[in-house]
Amino acid sequence: MTRRVALITGGMGGIGTAVCRRLAKANGNVVVANCLPGYAKKDEWLASMCKDGFEVHGAEGDVSDFESTAAMVRKVEAEVGPVDILVNNAGVVRDNMLKKMSLAEWMAVIQSNLNSVFNVTKNVIDGMTERGWGRVVNMSSVNGQKGQFGQTNYSAAKAGVHGFAKALAQEVIRKGVTVNSVSPGYVETDMVKSIRKDVLEKLIAGIPIGRLAQPEEIASLVAFLSSEEAGYITGANIAINGGMYMA
Ligand code: CAA
Repeated sequence: MTRRVALITGGMGGIGTAVCRRLAKANGNVVVANCLPGYAKKDEWLASMCKDGFEVHGAEGDVSDFESTAAMVRKVEAEVGPVDILVNNAGVVRDNMLKKMSLAEWMAVIQSNLNSVFNVTKNVIDGMTERGWGRVVNMSSVNGQKGQFGQTNYSAAKAGVHGFAKALAQEVIRKGVTVNSVSPGYVETDMVKSIRKDVLEKLIAGIPIGRLAQPEEIASLVAFLSSEEAGYITGANIAINGGMYMA
């Protein structure tokens, strides 16, 4: 088994942390977790990963900004090595009904959740195709598949990342690079815990499995799509939503 370098954007958040742990465990991959410049909990996060024996590095960069992302990728390549596995996981929410949504709320979500996928992938994809191996996994969402009241921005961005995956998958598969999306439902993270309590209770009641997902459940799917054995899967969007939406 070949040891790979994996870059996870938003790698120090709820799903991101679980993905870092899972990828670091698989083949002892070297994991690079991205966070925003100046992220206050970075050192504490890195220390807890090192304590558990994982080889994990931090990479500061604003993935919603092309230049910041390009500089971050160049630093990662120089200090850790070329990126073999990219997990486009960084994202934010700014929920509001469209009639109340500001341009700033729309732009924040499109920049961080959709333009970020272009910014990071554009900076690593040529290296993957030149070396003849790569894995790109985009974090989409059940709400990109079915739409969600109060999330025109987020649903548009999450549908967009899978459109991107399907197009890029066709461009790079003959060079050994797969591009897929995963579409989680509601996962027990700070993002979901920030939903108003009454609204969240109603949402959970509507999920057939009757509970939130654990971040580790999403991480194991990401790890499979990032593995050698998933080489025939490309352009796929794998739902992992407790039965909430069956496409
Ligand atoms: N369908 C239809 N009508 C709905 C509705 C729904 N799902 N939700 C609310 N409404 C109705 C309400 O009953 C209310 O009607 P009345 O005015 O007649 O009383 C009206 O719409 C306004 O609703 P709110 O009082 O909730 O409006 P608000 O402005 O206070 O809040 C909101 C709007 C912020 C969008 C809030 O409804 C909310 O937080 N919704 C949840 C959004 C959500 O699921 N976010 C997921 C975040 S996590 C994530 O995105 C991760 C992932 O990938 C899954």
